[in-house]
Amino acid sequence: MANLMEDKQILMIPGPTPIPQRVLRALANPAVGHRTPGFSRLLTEVTQKVKEIYRTDNDLLILTSSGTGAMEAAVSNFLNPGDKVIVMENGNFAERWIKICEAYGAIPRVVAGPWGQQAEPAALGQALAADRDKEIKAVYVTHNETSTGVTHDVRALRAVCGDHPAIFVVDSISGMAVSPLETDAWGLDVVVSGSQKAFMLPPGLAFISVSPKAWELNKGCEAPSFYLSLRAAKKNLDDKKMTPYTPAASLLVGLRESLSMMAEEGLANIQARHARNRDITRAAVRAMDLTPLADDAAASAAVTAIRRPGDIDVKKIAGIMADKYNIIIAAGQGKLEKEIFRVGHLGYIAATDILATVACLEMTLLELGWPATLGAGVAAAQRQILRG
Ligand SMILES: Cc1ncc(COP(=O)(O)O)c(C=O)c1O
Repeated sequence: MANLMEDKQILMIPGPTPIPQRVLRALANPAVGHRTPGFSRLLTEVTQKVKEIYRTDNDLLILTSSGTGAMEAAVSNFLNPGDKVIVMENGNFAERWIKICEAYGAIPRVVAGPWGQQAEPAALGQALAADRDKEIKAVYVTHNETSTGVTHDVRALRAVCGDHPAIFVVDSISGMAVSPLETDAWGLDVVVSGSQKAFMLPPGLAFISVSPKAWELNKGCEAPSFYLSLRAAKKNLDDKKMTPYTPAASLLVGLRESLSMMAEEGLANIQARHARNRDITRAAVRAMDLTPLADDAAASAAVTAIRRPGDIDVKKIAGIMADKYNIIIAAGQGKLEKEIFRVGHLGYIAATDILATVACLEMTLLELGWPATLGAGVAAAQRQILRG
């Protein structure tokens, strides 16, 4: 028997996130010619609007790739083999900076901290102070560490760098528009993000901002990659309002619609909504006698990581949620793979999605032997919603 409810799914992973009807309709438009005046107007418009979300007047380039492509561009366009960099490492995605730097022959000095806690600005300050000859070319940090549900204090991390010549590079793939990030006011040289998070689109577009200081460093980069060359992207945008290669043009049509929705809601309201989603989720988690991995002060507004309840297999939790209730949540990643599970609440997520998730999580945990009191988490979430 066909299951008519099969596609009535609630996607509660920290990206890809659900796509609003308005954006889906825009995505259903006929294919776009990418060497036309209309496309140039589209690219110009969405580039400007993404800059507004980035809070930047720096160059903003749109790449056809997932977020990792922009991370790779943030390494390949600025470093040469043998260059020294600092990576603040407190999670699985921060580790990716290390891997990409190493793939390009750079030498990362890793400032590691516990997964589930914020990166320590003082530790970064010490690492930079030890760099007496100012050899460090770049500092790589993560805004929102999706693998641990921690939002790092990017402003404080940037502040300790002072006027060190290293460029300051931020992975804000799951943080952009979710939590405050002031690219220009905080002096962030390179910031990367991706379409499948708060931009409410399918995966496939990545955004990268580049400051004048970063362009200076780029001048000395000998092999900035062909496909991910930011010089080529900038030249095409400046001269022709186009992209060097075929862009994901249909996604850009969708992006125009999602950016309109974001402008209608307003950046401050979007961030406030995400903060409310975080608070509702955490209230429910605690009422279910579960423990969030991150402290309140560090807690991400994009995703809540929850410690494994007793010795229950976190993959079973995600499995039952998917199979029985069609609610998709995530297990842990990297070294926390078996230690946590994660509920995403970024992008096009309403409080009612969280209520449904919590209700089904209670049933799932009960089935797995956790002494959940049915309704306790839901009631806590309801109370938090009423608090506003
Ligand atoms: C913080 C962070 N960095 C990097 C990535 C990688 O991005 P993508 O999967 O789009 O390549 C993700 C994806 O979840 C992420 O959340």
